[in-house]
Amino acid sequence: MHPRAVIDKMKIVKNIEELRHELALVKNKGLTVGLVPTMGALHEGHLSLVAASAAQSDYTVVSIFLNPLQFGENEDLDTYPRRLETDAELCAQHGAQLIFAPEASTMYHPEHATFVHNSELEEKYCGKYRPGHFRGVLTVVAKLFLAVEPSKAFFGKKDYQQAALIKNMVRDLNWNIVIELLETSREDSGLARSSRNEYMSAEQRNDAAAIYRGLEAAQKQYENGEREVSTLLELVQKSIKKSSGKLQYLHLVDAQTLLPLKNKVEKPAVILVAAFYGETRLIDNLELGV
Ligand code: PAJ
Repeated sequence: MHPRAVIDKMKIVKNIEELRHELALVKNKGLTVGLVPTMGALHEGHLSLVAASAAQSDYTVVSIFLNPLQFGENEDLDTYPRRLETDAELCAQHGAQLIFAPEASTMYHPEHATFVHNSELEEKYCGKYRPGHFRGVLTVVAKLFLAVEPSKAFFGKKDYQQAALIKNMVRDLNWNIVIELLETSREDSGLARSSRNEYMSAEQRNDAAAIYRGLEAAQKQYENGEREVSTLLELVQKSIKKSSGKLQYLHLVDAQTLLPLKNKVEKPAVILVAAFYGETRLIDNLELGV
């Protein structure tokens, strides 16, 4: 089918009343709804979530909303790539039926004062360097869950801490929504796909593959039996040091609780890393023994 023909059948909805109206029709037919929350500038990683939702749900909603609440004052809200039309077409091609693309004024009342946030985990790792970020993420995801009421929602392991916080929120609020986590989609070099990769020059982008090379080196040693936290982390650190990258944080944490492991890896774990290439902040992670 010509992509145009596909997209003509897909709805783009801008307000919550219309969204609820469309979804009531769908749910009255007994169909299951999958939700894929995004901020747009979609790449193959996002589209793998859309395809997974389309495979596991009768009706897939993709939200495209550049959420101002999760950006700090000196962050990239103004420069973040925006391309709704292309994104919508890609979603249609990957099996979505509806795009929810609200304006910020639709999502947030001028006097908005209610927030969702988590305990200590919100302040660690990315949260330490991006104060308020996860409060913004959880608040918007909660609002999307309430507006869509999906059976399943799809997120990427690329944002490991975000995924853990969302799972905790769903558990703590007894939400009847299954959270599906998908593997990180990578460029040929191993660099994790991110809408922010386009901020980098070709040279920086090439250089940034050092993050994944380091993670792979740690994985290899782990598979060879190395369990010492410091030895495994040193491999990642060394790889980034050899490149132009500036490490922001690097931790080996329990895959369940995300609490740091001090000496030895004795249970499923994950390496969490953030580094700058030029002005571009990148995050990545790798599971060990999961
Ligand atoms: P965004 O960065 O657009 O990512 C949307 C979803 O795509 C998230 O679940 C993210 O983990 C996933 N994703 C991003 N890069 C990926 C990759 N390379 N492979 C697989 N999945 C990937 O994350 C957000 O938006 C926002 O914080 C949001 C949850 C939408 C709330 O505003």
